[in-house]
Amino acid sequence: MDQKLFIANWKSHKIPSQVEAFFDTLHASAGEINWDNKKVIIAPPYPLLGKSVEAVKKTGLSISISSQDVSSFEEGAHTGEVAARLIKEYAEFAIIGHSERRESLHENDELLQKKVEQALSSGITPIYCVQNVTQQVPQGVTIIAYEPITAIGTGNPDDPTHIEEVFNTLHGTYPQTTVLYGGSVTAENSEQFLVIPSLGGFIIGGASLEAGSFISLLRQW
Ligand code: PGA
Repeated sequence: MDQKLFIANWKSHKIPSQVEAFFDTLHASAGEINWDNKKVIIAPPYPLLGKSVEAVKKTGLSISISSQDVSSFEEGAHTGEVAARLIKEYAEFAIIGHSERRESLHENDELLQKKVEQALSSGITPIYCVQNVTQQVPQGVTIIAYEPITAIGTGNPDDPTHIEEVFNTLHGTYPQTTVLYGGSVTAENSEQFLVIPSLGGFIIGGASLEAGSFISLLRQW
């Protein structure tokens, strides 16, 4: 079955006590969600990875975990870094190259290439974000997320016709990849993206923070 990915990017939000509540609410509504046609992935901040893994186990939900980044270094003397080997203990996926990191932390193609290599060498699947079709996607990437900066956190998602054009270009350049869209996706506007035949799924920021709004979105697909 062709499953669409629904990736909840919590960014730098939430404290431990909020994690259990989120998963408990999701569990309570699990019966209203079609889990067969979608793969739900939660991407919490690093310190909440363990708690999220525990909550998934406890609730028995069919949910995968992603980190929001990965170190470009192997395990070693790199203060403050989190190596792919450690992330792999908790997460199957890693978001790499999000525009917020490219902008505020000046992450560039060379660095992101190393991050992808680290993820792949530890068996983590990168979810590689691009903001436009001119950005290079490193070899080995199988999931690309198109996230135009003007659409992130603005309440103004990109136009579905334009998204489809971008997807076609990305699929042409990087065949065999799943391409996702991210940027102001909510339960209220998600139906407009149904017209995109090659839509692989979504990265959801703001609308994934409250379990209620995330559930509303999941219920629609
Ligand atoms: P948004 O964030 O849904 O809040 O626009 C998406 C993202 O940055 O991944």
